[in-house]
Amino acid sequence: MKKRKGIILAGGYGSRLFPTTIGVSKQLLPVYDKPMIYYPLSVLMLSDIQEIAVITNLDYMSQFQRLLGDGTQWGLNLSYICQHSPDGLAQAYLLAEGFLDGAPSAMVLGDNIFYGDGLRDLLTDARDQTHGGRVFGYRVSDPERYGVVGFDSNEVANSIEEKPVCPKSNYAVTGLYFLDETASKKAKSITPSTRGELEITSLLEIYLNEGSLSVQKMGRGYAWLDTGTHASLLDAGNFVRTLQHRQGLQVGCPEEIAFENNWISLEQLSDAAIQFEKNEYGEYLNKLLTSFL
Ligand code: G1P
Repeated sequence: MKKRKGIILAGGYGSRLFPTTIGVSKQLLPVYDKPMIYYPLSVLMLSDIQEIAVITNLDYMSQFQRLLGDGTQWGLNLSYICQHSPDGLAQAYLLAEGFLDGAPSAMVLGDNIFYGDGLRDLLTDARDQTHGGRVFGYRVSDPERYGVVGFDSNEVANSIEEKPVCPKSNYAVTGLYFLDETASKKAKSITPSTRGELEITSLLEIYLNEGSLSVQKMGRGYAWLDTGTHASLLDAGNFVRTLQHRQGLQVGCPEEIAFENNWISLEQLSDAAIQFEKNEYGEYLNKLLTSFL
């Protein structure tokens, strides 16, 4: 089997955050001290994935390229795919078919933030699943806003619905999808929903009907944060700030993960510490560096 590749879907126009997102992509907005996309990028890195495509719309592609480059500063191989019109999350698998080239994938939405002790284990376990799909169910108070998974009496997933009026459970499907190499082929058979989108839920339903979708609950020790409204974006920033200040540990720091994964050298870590030396992010990297000297 080919090595799993990553996709970050950072398309769309962020219209729910207008006017903030008229001039800049939503996924580049700050969540406290770093761009939003650093958080989902970190999730893929924690999943031990190095070959990653960022899907963006044409207007913002150069901004993402300026920020993330080719990824070598983090030991990654980053490429960019243009989404000319946002036609639903499952479209990503059509756009990325050439990039994936028959490899299994992990796709994360560019505005999803995950945090929790043990996240790395949860992710590497999903990475190692060789067949079918793995998604994560997270308990929310407002499931009707999301894809919702229903469970039978044995706690096995038996339904998945997009934004149901009467949700079958409180478990939303998070924006992180580990799918096998058949995802692009399956995505081709999907037709647009009533809201005109190629729904990720339709793709997951195919896996579910095949009996090859595993739904893992992310328990209450995890945070899955929303950044979809002005208020929730601010809340997410405050959450990150509170944790970082209390613990003195960074949330979503690609340099740290790359270093832990042995993907970058001490010298590369030092370069980043110098680049950011004017703020706490750089100080953090410097401390990390000196603890290894
Ligand atoms: C999308 C998916 C939904 C999923 C959610 C997670 O919703 O369609 O199934 O639960 O992402 O963030 P959207 O954000 O497009 O409304």
